[in-house]
Amino acid sequence: MSDDFQSRVTAAMANPQNMGELPNADSIGTVGSAECGDMLRVWVKFKEEGGRKVIDRASFQSFGCETAIAAASLAMELIRGKSPAEALAMRGEELAKDLGPLPPTKVHCTALVEGAIRQALEPSAPASSPAVPASASAAAAVPSSLMDSFNKPDPKKGGVKVVFLRESESPA
Ligand code: FES
Repeated sequence: MSDDFQSRVTAAMANPQNMGELPNADSIGTVGSAECGDMLRVWVKFKEEGGRKVIDRASFQSFGCETAIAAASLAMELIRGKSPAEALAMRGEELAKDLGPLPPTKVHCTALVEGAIRQALEPSAPASSPAVPASASAAAAVPSSLMDSFNKPDPKKGGVKVVFLRESESPA
């Protein structure tokens, strides 16, 4: 992995934008799987501008790696003000273009971002990553945070139980 790429990811991670649940979102897209660990959820709110529907705000939560978080942070800014069709035309590498060329092992991180945006904007489209059903009409039925999807009380029934350590319990 190049130092250049890593320093861009670190810079984006230092000040992630639009992270967290977006109250009153019009649509939600979730991809990934709690079983294997990489999950990304995107919330989108639309507005009318000049007679067309555009993305007013978008936010995300992620259980992916730092590249997925950095790419999602950049992508949420990039799709703002775009129509759904314009945002859907953007591929993962374009959404994360400010990170520079991606190492091959990190291409799937941006595909996760693209997939979650796609699910939010076009829920009926086939997902490149496993999609968790979520759409504008189903937005109210989707757990409000990614943690709610990920953190199942009984890991034998899918998902995992996430337990945060207090700072004093963190491994040194
Ligand atoms: Fe799996 Fe980045 S999201 S390695």
